[in-house]
Amino acid sequence: MNPLLQAKDVNIFYGDKQAVQNVDLDVHTGTVNALIGPSGCGKTTFLRAINRMHDLTPGARVTGQILLDGEDIYAPGVDPVAMRRRVGMVFQKPNPFPTMSVFDNVVAGLKLAGMRNRDQLMAVAERSLRGAALWEEVKERLNTPATGLSGGQQQRLCIARALAVDPEILLMDEPTSALDPSSTAKIEELMTELKKVTTIIIVTHNMHQAARVSDTTSFFLVGDLVEHGPTDRLFQSPRDERTEAYVTGRFG
Ligand SMILES: Nc1ncnc2c1ncn2[C@@H]1O[C@H](COP(=O)(O)OP(=O)(O)O)[C@@H](O)[C@H]1O
Ligand SMILES: [Mg+2]
Repeated sequence: MNPLLQAKDVNIFYGDKQAVQNVDLDVHTGTVNALIGPSGCGKTTFLRAINRMHDLTPGARVTGQILLDGEDIYAPGVDPVAMRRRVGMVFQKPNPFPTMSVFDNVVAGLKLAGMRNRDQLMAVAERSLRGAALWEEVKERLNTPATGLSGGQQQRLCIARALAVDPEILLMDEPTSALDPSSTAKIEELMTELKKVTTIIIVTHNMHQAARVSDTTSFFLVGDLVEHGPTDRLFQSPRDERTEAYVTGRFG
């Protein structure tokens, strides 16, 4: 099976400073892929390249190729807005639209894309909220402000909002680092369900989380992808001594 996503010799710069170098990575449909490594090693920088978020950062530059279904997302003529509908993103801190209701948050992307039919919007909202394991908790309060939800609920709302436009890939940048342990556990459990409908790339500085939720793990160190492989293999028998030092807790 062809990879859903392929990074080929990806280099990322902030001005003159290089933050990520020579990364090659394949990601397959229906898997959870963790990016791990110490703070500042380039995980977020690499993740943001996958939906062209660096376009919005002055001075940032990406070279190499990132192929989605075989097509380079950086090719001339690719509309980044349309592309980002295929590559959803969930951030470290839950960021629901603060002035909108729960319902309006979930369907915001669909409305932007022109969907107006109330029944249709409701059907997608329910499906997305169920997908994010939030429906039962919010079905009676869909028209109340999103900001009234707990932090963990807000993060699942952001997951629902991303799912609503049927992304092929969902990027998650430390999605549980602002959450308490029980909200974190809920989101980790959710991953196994989510990968049935989308493909996940998750940045986490928590190795145990990577070990619990992911199928593959990529270990980054100062901008290099040091080692990539099936999660069990990478944690149990790392091939690179730097990976071994990290996963055994000797640094980081
Ligand atoms: N907007 C930016 N401008 C300049 N340097 C940045 C910017 N964002 C990140 N960096 C630098 O790039 C490197 C990688 O950062 P980052 O990708 O955020 O690491 P991680 O997510 O692994 O903690 C760090 O040295 C960081 O200081
Ligand atoms: Mg980061």
